[in-house]
Amino acid sequence: MTRTVLVTGGSSGIGRAVAARFVADGADVVVTGRRAQLVETTAQEIGAAGVVCDATDPQAVEALAARFDTLDVLVNAAGGLGSAQPRPGAGALETVLAEWQADLDGNLLSAVLTTTALKPVLAPGGTAIAIGTIGSERRGGSYGAAKAALTAWYAMLSADLGPRGVTANVVSPGYIADTGFFRGAMTDAREQTLIAETHTKRAGAPHDIAETVFFLASPGARQITGQTIHVNGGAFTTR
Ligand SMILES: NC(=O)c1ccc[n+]([C@@H]2O[C@H](COP(=O)([O-])OP(=O)(O)OC[C@H]3O[C@@H](n4cnc5c(N)ncnc54)[C@H](OP(=O)(O)O)[C@@H]3O)[C@@H](O)[C@H]2O)c1
Repeated sequence: MTRTVLVTGGSSGIGRAVAARFVADGADVVVTGRRAQLVETTAQEIGAAGVVCDATDPQAVEALAARFDTLDVLVNAAGGLGSAQPRPGAGALETVLAEWQADLDGNLLSAVLTTTALKPVLAPGGTAIAIGTIGSERRGGSYGAAKAALTAWYAMLSADLGPRGVTANVVSPGYIADTGFFRGAMTDAREQTLIAETHTKRAGAPHDIAETVFFLASPGARQITGQTIHVNGGAFTTR
């Protein structure tokens, strides 16, 4: 049967690769993002449907959810480093608050809103997956903290959805090249440092994450739930 897949933030980078992987499997895929032109272009290029939706906007998320009678795979890939704009003349604490709120909105509440809205239509045998970050393990700041909170929330989600035959996991990437994440600010020296931290001595690629997400949504992964799956070439190791 044809699967229905929603990838938030599917208009670029990791989300785009995830969406393309499910399209290649014959799924009906919807990608979202805030920039309308990028959503349209990406949807056309990969053979998905595109919907402009800011995942931090409850009304936009409700309108998105209303498009689905049933959903097999939900991938919350929308997120990134917050770009808070503190008001001119803002004090130091006000600035800190704006930065934290931007990261919490973009990386935690975006997935909470989308998942809450789509939960009722997630079909048995389906899965909800969120994209975390290696930054939750070290030096993550407000961005890593927001993604760490997302992981905690996904543990509860897993317990909630498990009895219905739906799994919930977080895929936590290390450095992934060829994404819009760094907004052109990645220097050669910084990239070489990140690559040197890996055991594989290469940057991650969007397809590394796409293949992991695809596996978690496969029949072979039905007993994997409530987990954080690290995909970082060994840059962060676990027991
Ligand atoms: N690249 C890395 O090294 C890396 C490492 C660890 C984790 N991650 C995580 O991977 C995920 C994907 O990022 P990426 O690396 O692929 O970067 P990217 O190329 O910039 O993709 C981010 C996607 O999310 C969308 N997006 C951001 N905020 C959104 C919102 N509020 N509502 C809807 N869509 C939104 C963006 O489109 P619009 O801007 O048009 O909305 C874009 O499609 C993010 O959650 C990021 O935190 C990335």
